[in-house]
Amino acid sequence: MSKTIFVLNGPNLNMLGKREPGIYGGKTLADIEADCQKAGADLGLTVDFRQSNHEGMLVDWLHEAGEKAAGVAFNAGAYTHTSVALHDAIRAISPLPVIEVHISNVHAREEFRHKSMIAPAAKGVICGFGPHSYILALQALKTLTQ
Ligand code: DQA
Repeated sequence: MSKTIFVLNGPNLNMLGKREPGIYGGKTLADIEADCQKAGADLGLTVDFRQSNHEGMLVDWLHEAGEKAAGVAFNAGAYTHTSVALHDAIRAISPLPVIEVHISNVHAREEFRHKSMIAPAAKGVICGFGPHSYILALQALKTLTQ
């Protein structure tokens, strides 16, 4: 049976395509999901792809991943920079590998994006490769969960 990877997306990522295309590109979240489903199938992984604008929902989904998933690719959006609750949720499901994902290179942007509350609890961080960041995270999770 193939392993399930949760791909979780936080606030405003439902606006991709319309939202600051100069930073995030023209792909919609549905386009990114389709790319992840294809990459997942090629890697022999089942991808469960979700988005919420609500911090508590993301906490609940991380807990669910702890029960059902082999790993998580997690773009927490702006909650990356603020959320102790998401940091704690990742620690609560340890040792499940959670990879922090960003479309943009957060380190080349505003100072407030340089700090991640998620990174110290995550297995690793992938940022700056556009939507391909998600595919790199799936490849890393394939290797980590083999
Ligand atoms: C983002 C970067 C965050 O700083 C920002 O708040 C987002 C998107 C990214 O994917 O580049 O919403 O996580």
